[in-house]
Amino acid sequence: MNRKNFSLLTLTVLIASFWHPASAQHETASDLISGERAFRQYCANCHGPDGDLIANVDLGHNNFRQSYTDENLVGIIMNGIPDTPMPPTPRVTDEQASMVVAWLRSLGEREEGMSGDPVLGLNLFSGRGNCMGCHMVNGEGSVLGPDLSSIALIRSSAELESSLIEPDAIVQPDSRFFTVQFKNGEVITGRLLNHDAFTIQLLDSDERLRSLDKSELQTWGFTTPGMPSLAGDFSNQEIADLVAYLASLRRGAAL
Ligand code: HEC
Ligand code: HEC
Repeated sequence: MNRKNFSLLTLTVLIASFWHPASAQHETASDLISGERAFRQYCANCHGPDGDLIANVDLGHNNFRQSYTDENLVGIIMNGIPDTPMPPTPRVTDEQASMVVAWLRSLGEREEGMSGDPVLGLNLFSGRGNCMGCHMVNGEGSVLGPDLSSIALIRSSAELESSLIEPDAIVQPDSRFFTVQFKNGEVITGRLLNHDAFTIQLLDSDERLRSLDKSELQTWGFTTPGMPSLAGDFSNQEIADLVAYLASLRRGAAL
C-alpha cells in the first residue's frame, strides 16, 4: 500500500505536468459520462469499477505501467495487448475509446486531492463510525445493512463516497429499514425479508426473524434513510480514509 501510494504520488505529479493542459480543452462532461458508461460495459468486469482489480494494473489513478499517450491507450483498447489476457474491444468505436481514456484520466485527476489511509479507515469502521453495528465484513458485524465484504467489486470509490455523504442518493431497495407498529403501540424496525397479503417477515434490530400478522398491525412501511450520513460528523480526511478501507473490500475477486 505504501509503495502504491508512493508511486501514485510521483506519477500523478509527473503526469499532471504533461497531459493536463492538452486534455482539458475538448472533453465535455457528457463525454466523461459516456466514457464511464462504456468502461462499465466493456472493461469493469475484468478491471473492476475503479480499474484497479487486476494485480499490477491500475487504470483509474494515473498509475499506468508506462507513460502512455492518449493514442496509445485508445490503441490498447481497440487492439488489446497481444499475448496477454487483455482482449481487443471491437464493439467500441475510436470515439468511445477516447471517451473512456478521458474518463480514466479524469479519475486520476480527482484522486490527487484526496488519498485515504485504509488502516485508519478500518479503525473508524470498527470504532467511532459504529459501522459494524449495521454492516457485516467477512463474517463480523451485523446484518441490518448490506454485507460490505466485497463492496469494492461493485462500487467505485466515488459511489462509496456518496453513499457515506448522501446515503439517500443510492438506496438499495431490499436493504432499507422497514418499520411496523402494532395496534398496541409497540414498534419494531428491521430489514424486510418477505411479505404477502397477510404477513410480514422481517429481521429485527436484534437480528431475530419475526413473522408478523398484518391483522395485528396498525402501520407498516419503509423508513428511509437507513444509512446515516457522515457529513458533519466526520472530516473529509476521515471520509477519505473510510472510502480507502471500503475500496479494499473485494473478497472473492477472481483476479
Ligand atoms: C477479459 C478481461 C479484460 C477486459 C474485458 C479488459 N481488459 Fe484491459 N487488461 C486486462 C489484463 C489481464 C491486462 C494486463 C495484461 C498484461 O498482462 O499486460 C489489461 C491491461 C490493460 C491496460 C494496460 C494498463 C497498463 O498500465 O499497462 C489498459 C490501458 C487496459 N487494460 C484498458 C482496458 C479497457 C479500457 C478496457 C475496456 C474497453 C479493458 N481493458 C478491457 C484484462 C481485460
Ligand atoms: C443504522 C445502521 C447503519 C449504520 C450505523 C451504518 N450503515 Fe451503512 N447502510 C445501512 C443501510 C440500511 C444501507 C442500505 C440502504 C441505504 O443505502 O440507505 C447502508 C448502505 C451503506 C453503503 C452502500 C452499500 C451499497 O450497496 O452501495 C455503504 C458503503 C455503507 N453503508 C457504509 C457504511 C459505513 C462506512 C458506516 C460507518 C461509518 C455505516 N455504513 C454505518 C445502515 C447503516
